[in-house]
Amino acid sequence: AEDFFQPADLSNIKIAITAGPTRESIDPVRYLTNHSSGKMGYAIAEAAAKRGAHVTLISGPVNLATPANVERVDTDSAEQMHQAAMDAATNHDIFISCAAVADFRPAEIATQKMKKKSGEDEMVLRLVKNPDIVASVAGLTEQRPFTVGFAAETQDVEQYARGKLSRKNLDLICANDVSQQGLGFNSDSNALHLYWPEGDKALPLASKHELGQQLISEIIDQFKAKQH
Ligand code: CTP
Ligand code: CA
Repeated sequence: AEDFFQPADLSNIKIAITAGPTRESIDPVRYLTNHSSGKMGYAIAEAAAKRGAHVTLISGPVNLATPANVERVDTDSAEQMHQAAMDAATNHDIFISCAAVADFRPAEIATQKMKKKSGEDEMVLRLVKNPDIVASVAGLTEQRPFTVGFAAETQDVEQYARGKLSRKNLDLICANDVSQQGLGFNSDSNALHLYWPEGDKALPLASKHELGQQLISEIIDQFKAKQH
């Protein structure tokens, strides 16, 4: 129903969005990743573009079509996504970090396919921390965009979400209770709870398509409130 009429009222606003998982190489044929489908980030990008915003979608490896009128930048690892995000951040008004960034990557990428060693029944993979992309963007001291994060939690949702909001210096965080069956990761529907320093708002269960539209409206309201 909300698709019925959408004014192109965001034509002077530039929005960068990260979406999907990252892939962290182990060797030439193997990697670490997660179950993110990218659907939520793509739905937000589509909703923003439909309202006339200039949208840059920084995407991890996903199986989704690029929404109309969206500029897509493909990335693989968290380090690549970090670079693309920092390149985009300072010339966008709003940055939305929807990607499920791998927290760690293998300390070394083997140049050749790793082989089993005879007689060894286990192997140890050493991981190192990836850069925190949304915290880097929110930490910019010049040309910092209005910065929105996500938080996927299985317990104490408000406490963890508010912790990330303040620790990462975000303007808004969208919390996702992933303990509820069928919500969030790899699903077509979702429920979110938005938190910002002075308030909060629940966005009840809806399709990711519908939630994308609601989310853009809420983010634009908060962005405008912070302009003056
Ligand atoms: N995020 C990011 N870069 C990372 C890790 C997370 O930009 N290296 C962003 C995500 O895109 C999301 C927010 O940070 O917007 C929160 O991600 P989440 O995984 O929920 O939080 P973490 O800070 O990684 O904490 P943890 O996984 O330990 O709960
Ligand atoms: Ca994480």
